Amino acid sequence: MKVTVVGAGAVGASCAEYIAIKDFASEVVILDIKEGYAEGKAMDLMQTASLNGFDTKITGSTSDYAKTADSHIAVITSGIPRKPGMTREELIGINAGIVKTVSSNLLEHSPNVIIIVVSNPMDTMTYLVHKTTGLPKNRIIGMGGALDSARFKYRLAEAMEAPISDIDGMVIGGHSDKGMVPLTSHATRNSIRVSEFLSDERLEQVAADTKVGGATLTGLLGTSAWYAPGAAVSALVQAIACDQKKMFPCSTMLEGEYGLNDICIGVPVILGKNGIEKIVDIPLSDAEKAKMQESAEGVTKTNGLLEL
Ligand SMILES: NC(=O)c1ccc[n+]([C@@H]2O[C@H](COP(=O)([O-])OP(=O)(O)OC[C@H]3O[C@@H](n4cnc5c(N)ncnc54)[C@H](O)[C@@H]3O)[C@@H](O)[C@H]2O)c1
Repeated sequence: MKVTVVGAGAVGASCAEYIAIKDFASEVVILDIKEGYAEGKAMDLMQTASLNGFDTKITGSTSDYAKTADSHIAVITSGIPRKPGMTREELIGINAGIVKTVSSNLLEHSPNVIIIVVSNPMDTMTYLVHKTTGLPKNRIIGMGGALDSARFKYRLAEAMEAPISDIDGMVIGGHSDKGMVPLTSHATRNSIRVSEFLSDERLEQVAADTKVGGATLTGLLGTSAWYAPGAAVSALVQAIACDQKKMFPCSTMLEGEYGLNDICIGVPVILGKNGIEKIVDIPLSDAEKAKMQESAEGVTKTNGLLEL
């Protein structure tokens, strides 16, 4: 199982580290355009192998896609992150060109690869990969909902003063401050609805804090977060690599599901060895349907900025 991570920056290196530590892949190749940067990150990570007890080989590459040949899974994290006060949508100008070139280079050397898109604005970048590569939809996965759901569970646990392992919940919709749809009515603590523990006002606050989860961290860190994004990517990679059939909200091309068409947006999917093996079309309340519709309008507007 060979995994390529394009972009050796904060998120790329973090996800490479988590993949290696989980020890399910034979090789992780990290590629970046910055001379020597990916090689340096790979060497540093390899020097953690004896300490952290993994055998995954980590290789660095400066723009040499031959080293990525025959990858089963590739993660695209290349591009610029947002600075405090910026929206993810503002990154489109630079990142669209990068994501388009990177996906074409990846496919040249790994024609059967499954691509996980992380670069922002992620839903639009996922749509771009669809439109420019023509790959079957099961092989293009946008990562956003897995991270947003982890942030939702963190906020729920905090509000209930409960351990996070007690909490289950999911965020669907667009991966943007306004577009996220935290499914508060479906969230549970050990199968009991969270509304049994929290007032409507507190739940609304949890949802609001979840939606600005990334912006809050960007304000604190001065750049985009990387630990939870890296962990979320590694969870998706593991689900595919180990054929786990796990369910995550991911950005995927919809063809009528949730009443939406020709858009990549976060919905629950089953991940296995073929990538997205099923889209899970769950019934939503009228309020959630309206939020999903509004979220889709936002993503469609950003997609309109692409030069396809
Ligand atoms: N989808 C999500 O949930 C999520 C979460 C966090 C960050 N992000 C996004 O991920 C991206 C990366 O964030 P980061 O914090 O790691 O940024 P970063 O600046 O730390 O790293 C980006 C790396 O990409 C490299 N790069 C640029 N152009 C390239 C190219 N053509 N080929 C190969 N490498 C190239 C840069 O040299 C840099 O090392 C950003 O767009 C950010 O907004 C998405």
